[in-house]
Amino acid sequence: MTTRFTGIDLGPPIEVFALQKAFVDDTHENKVNLAIGAYRTSEGKPWVLPVVRKVEKALAEDELQNHEYLPVLGLDAFCQSSTSMLLGENSPAISQGRAFGVQTLSGTGALRVAAEFLSRILRYDTFYYSTPTWENHKLVFINGGFKKGCEYRYWCAETRGIDLEGMLEDLRNAPENAVIILHACAHNPTGCDPTPEQWAKIADVMGEKRLFPLFDSAYQGFASGDLNKDALGVRLFAERGLEFICTQSFAKNFGLYNERVGNMVVVLNNTKEIVQVKSQITLIIRGMYSNPPNHGARLVATVLRSPDLFKQWRGHILTMSDRIKTMRSGLYERLLKLGTPGSWEHIVNQIGMFSYTGLNETQVKHLLDHYHIYMLRSGRINMCGLNEKNLDYVAAAIHEAVTRFQKS
Ligand code: LMR
Repeated sequence: MTTRFTGIDLGPPIEVFALQKAFVDDTHENKVNLAIGAYRTSEGKPWVLPVVRKVEKALAEDELQNHEYLPVLGLDAFCQSSTSMLLGENSPAISQGRAFGVQTLSGTGALRVAAEFLSRILRYDTFYYSTPTWENHKLVFINGGFKKGCEYRYWCAETRGIDLEGMLEDLRNAPENAVIILHACAHNPTGCDPTPEQWAKIADVMGEKRLFPLFDSAYQGFASGDLNKDALGVRLFAERGLEFICTQSFAKNFGLYNERVGNMVVVLNNTKEIVQVKSQITLIIRGMYSNPPNHGARLVATVLRSPDLFKQWRGHILTMSDRIKTMRSGLYERLLKLGTPGSWEHIVNQIGMFSYTGLNETQVKHLLDHYHIYMLRSGRINMCGLNEKNLDYVAAAIHEAVTRFQKS
């Protein structure tokens, strides 16, 4: 039989999901999944936050709930409470009516809508992403209409920290109106964030060179356990009067991965253009998926708007960030004790879900082939995949891999 579908190139696999599938299919009893960025309990299980369970039950029993369409721009209560969580409840941008939120299909959906708005409506054509970055940034921005993706320096392999001078130099050389993707906190994959002083320098250059900041905020509260601390960079830009977009995800901090709960926050310098901006975003969403789903957004709005539930949730983000910190020191201490060649302080100094270990591709492959330990080729590991039962095993395996393959 003939088919029209001949001659189609085979697309490359998406590393993180390919590893996830390989892990599930793996029958080895000691297998460890350090690949996909999802929280795991100390038993290695996914965690439905207790406050989420509670609100879900209440919503299921609530006869006033129905399945009518939401507006194209989403649930107002959700957009407002999420925007306030990001910018702070006393944010002048909010009180002056210069900031608003639009509900999206998680952080990725927000990035996609933002990219299409910036490329089609503002006619921006160049975006910059950090080296390295979350691998999907490039695809989303190109699919969103951008013509040119450029890298700015971020990670310095020698110091295992930020190459701030390199980053600032690249930003200074970027053309006016280039969109700069910044990770609001818990940089994925490096786990290295700018200090407040470094954020100030980045803001200086972005303002001077008239670059457009696009913050990706996927870990607010999850990174440090403190919502304010994790929003420091974004708020500094807002205080400076810089206009920007910030894409918020509630996958990690609420554990709502598959509910696709996101918010795109737009901060403008005046209120005059807001109606026009919203009308164009409305058309973009209408032409893409028409309107967003209700369940996860209603859940998040319910928690953020109730002082009691909000307090419970803040307890949960502390539980998660504390467990990650414990795993960081657990791995670090074991590698130190084993005398693993190289320095490992970065494991405790990095923040958020991931550690950028510095393991090279040969070592990563060895860990997979011989120990059934799954991680990204870049050497990024999800700290949540570690627990008291597998720490010794993982540390010993890393020790053996590093000792055996000291050079790539
Ligand atoms: C990750 O970085 O592992 C997660 O954010 C999952 C994804 O979509 O890549």
